[in-house]
Amino acid sequence: MNWTISNQSLDPQQLLVNESLFSLGNGYLGVRGNFEEGYPEGVPTIRGTYINAFHDLAAIHYGEKAFGYPEVRQKLMNLIDAQTIRLYLDDETQPFSLFSGDVVHFERTLDLQYGFSERLIQWHSPAGREIMIRFRRLVSFVRRELFAIEVTVEPVNFSGRLKIVSTVNGDVENFSDASDSRVASEDEAHLDVLSARNDGAVSLVTDQAHTSKRKVSCAASLNFSVPAETQLAVLPGSVETSATVALNGPVTVIKKTIYTDSLRHGQQTEQTAAALLRGLDHVPFSKLLEEQQTYLDRFWRLSDVRITGSPALQTGIRFNLYQLLQAAGRDSVSSIAAKGLSGEGYEGHYFWDTEIFMLPFFTLTQPELARGLLLFRYGLLDSARRRARVMGHRKGALFPWRTITGSECSAFFPAGTAQYHINADIAYSCVQYYLATGDDDFLARFGAEILFETARVWMETGHYLNGSFRVDGVTGPDEYTAIVDNNYYTNAMAKYNLYWAAKAAGNLKAADPGCYTRLSERLQLTDREPEEWAHAAKAMYLPYDPERGINPQDDTFLQKAVWNFAETPPGNYPLLLHYHPLTLYRYQVCKQADTVLAHFLLEDEQTLETMRRSFDYYEKVTTHDSSLSTCIFSIMAARLGDTGKAYDYFKTAARIDLDNTQGNTRDGLHLANIGGTWMAIVFGFAGVRIKENGLSLRPVLPSAWKGYAFRLVYHGRVLSVSVAGEQLELQLTEGSRLSFKLYDQPVELKSGQTAVFPLHR
Ligand code: BGC
Repeated sequence: MNWTISNQSLDPQQLLVNESLFSLGNGYLGVRGNFEEGYPEGVPTIRGTYINAFHDLAAIHYGEKAFGYPEVRQKLMNLIDAQTIRLYLDDETQPFSLFSGDVVHFERTLDLQYGFSERLIQWHSPAGREIMIRFRRLVSFVRRELFAIEVTVEPVNFSGRLKIVSTVNGDVENFSDASDSRVASEDEAHLDVLSARNDGAVSLVTDQAHTSKRKVSCAASLNFSVPAETQLAVLPGSVETSATVALNGPVTVIKKTIYTDSLRHGQQTEQTAAALLRGLDHVPFSKLLEEQQTYLDRFWRLSDVRITGSPALQTGIRFNLYQLLQAAGRDSVSSIAAKGLSGEGYEGHYFWDTEIFMLPFFTLTQPELARGLLLFRYGLLDSARRRARVMGHRKGALFPWRTITGSECSAFFPAGTAQYHINADIAYSCVQYYLATGDDDFLARFGAEILFETARVWMETGHYLNGSFRVDGVTGPDEYTAIVDNNYYTNAMAKYNLYWAAKAAGNLKAADPGCYTRLSERLQLTDREPEEWAHAAKAMYLPYDPERGINPQDDTFLQKAVWNFAETPPGNYPLLLHYHPLTLYRYQVCKQADTVLAHFLLEDEQTLETMRRSFDYYEKVTTHDSSLSTCIFSIMAARLGDTGKAYDYFKTAARIDLDNTQGNTRDGLHLANIGGTWMAIVFGFAGVRIKENGLSLRPVLPSAWKGYAFRLVYHGRVLSVSVAGEQLELQLTEGSRLSFKLYDQPVELKSGQTAVFPLHR
C-alpha cells in the first residue's frame, strides 16, 4: 500500500511539475518525465536527460569585477535526448498525441517499490481508431548507464498497421529563464554534435561539451514483440529508427539506451556504449524490472519509513526517500545536486544541502553511500586549498559554496562565497558519520584531513577580542542577511569544527602515530595548531542577548527594523524575486532557519529556554522562502515539546514538491527539503540525536497519526523503532548489543531483543 504516486493531469503547468515529479534516476543518469510522443507547439516542456556532474563551462560576466571573483561557471548539461517514440496508426499522418483526438483515459504512475514509471492511455485517434497504450520506463539501479522504455499498443476497434518512429537526438539545449536567478540564463555553454550515425540497427550519437570538451555518447536499439523490419535514417544531429508492423493484437516495443561519458568511461564513449548495449541484447524488460525490485527491496529494508494514519504523507515520505536514492551520486566525481537529476535549477551544483540536509538519511540508513559522498568532498580538497589561497588564507581549505568539480561557481559572493559555514557543515557531517558508524578508517584517512584543513581557515577568519574568539565578515544560512560579524550559526558550527579537529588530531596521534606523522608532515601541521584549535573552540563567542534571552543571529541583527510583513502583499513572496538584496539586508527578515538550525544541530550549546525563546522570536521573522527551512522548524518545534506545531511544519515540508508550493518544482525537486522531511521524522518526532556520548531517542507521536516506524543503522547494528499509539517498541534486528539513551535513561538491547516502553507525551 502507498507505494505509488499517480497523476492524470494534462494541464500544461502541471505537466511541467510532473516532469520533475516523475523523473527517473540512479545517481548517474537522470531522465525527466517527458512524454515520449512529445507535445504540440505552445505546450511548454523542459525535456531533459542528465548525467551527474556532466557539465560545460561558461565565462561569468560581471559589470564590475573584483579580485577573487570566480571567472568560470560550471553548468550541468542537458544531454542527448533518447526519450522520443512516435506512434502512427495506419495511414494517419499525425502521430498519437494526448493533445489530439479523444483521451478516454490517461494516468501516469511512479512505482516506488518496483522502480519504474508507467503511463496508461486509452485514446481515440482523430480518425476514430481506438487504442490502449502502456508506456513503462526505468533508469536501472544496477546497470548505471541504462535507460529503457517499453511501449505496448493494443488496438480496440480496428486492425491495421502501426508505424513506430524512435529518435536519438544530439541537437539539444538547456532550458533558460532570464527572469529567475535560480535558473541559468542563456550563455555559451552548450553541446556540439560530434557524430550521429548508425551501426546496423543501433543508433549512435556522440556530443561534446563546447568548452569542457567532455564527451557523451548514447547508443540505442529497438526490440519488437512481432516481426518488424527497421529502417534507420541519419539526420542532422540525430538518428531516427522506424518500423511498420501489423497491429492485430498487442505489440510491444522496447527501446534500450545506454549513456556513457568521458569522465567515467574514458575517451571511447561510443564504443563503450555500443558494447554495453550489445550485452543487453537478450535481456528482456521483465528482467530489468526484476533487478530493480531486488535492488529496491534491499534499499527499503533499511530505509523505509512507515506512517500509520496518513496515506498521503506515507506516500509523500516514500516518494522523498526514493528521490534521494535516485539523486545520490555513487562515484568519486559526483554528489547530490540541489535538484538531484530531476531538473536544471541551480545548474546541477552541489551545496551545503548535501551535507546538512541529505547526508543524515544516508549516514543512518545506507552508510556506505554516505561514506562515498564524503569521499567526494575529500576529493575536492585540493581545489578548496587553492580557493583558500585566493581568499587570502595562508593555510587550510575553503570549500566552494556551489560547485560541480570543486571550483567556486557562485557569482554573488554575499550569498555565496561568504557562506563560510559550508566548511563547518562538511566537517560536521564527517563527524556525524564517524559517530554513527565508528568508521575509524574513514576518520584517519579522510575525515581528519578535512577537519584539519577546515579548522585552519577558521583560525584565519576569526580572531581574539577581549579573550573571546570571533568570526567576522561571513554570511550565515539566512540569505536575507549578508556579511555579518559573529553569525551565531557560523560560530557554533566553527566551534564544533575546531573542537573536533583538535580531538581527531589527539585521537589519531594516540591510535596511529605513524599515520598522524605522515599526515602532519604532508600538511605541514605544527604541534601547536591542534592546541590553538582547541583553545579557539573553547573561547568561541556565541552571541546572547540577555534582555530577550535569545541568541542574536549576529552582532547587528536585533538592532535592525523588523520587516513590514503586514504590508507585504502575498504575491511578493519569495521576497528575493521582488526586492533588491540590499533592501532585504536592512531588515530583520530571514529567508530560512539560521539560529534555529544551529539549535537543532548543536543543542547542547544552549538551555532549552533560550532555544524556545529564540524559536518564538525567529519564527515571526522567517518567511521560509527557502525550502530548507520548514523541516528545521518542525524538528525544533518537536524538540521544544510542541508536537502540533512540529506536525504543521512537517506537513508543509512533506508536500513542497507534490503540491508545488514553492512554485518552481518544474525546475527540479527540492532535494534538501526532501532529506529534511526524513530528518523531521527521525530527528524531530523520534528525537534521535547522535553525539559524542552516543545515540539517544526521545520519541513522540503527532496526534494525527496512529504510529510510525523506521530503522537506523548505528555502528553496524540495525535498530528498529516503532511507535504505535501509547507504545514505543525498539528492536535490535541486527548486531550483538546496543546501548543508547531513551528519554535520557540508559537502555541496552541484546541481539534480536525487543523492548516495549510507554511513549512520552
Ligand atoms: C538557499 C540555500 C541553498 C540553495 C540551494 C537557496 O535558496 O537559501 O541555503 O543552499 O538554495 O538549494
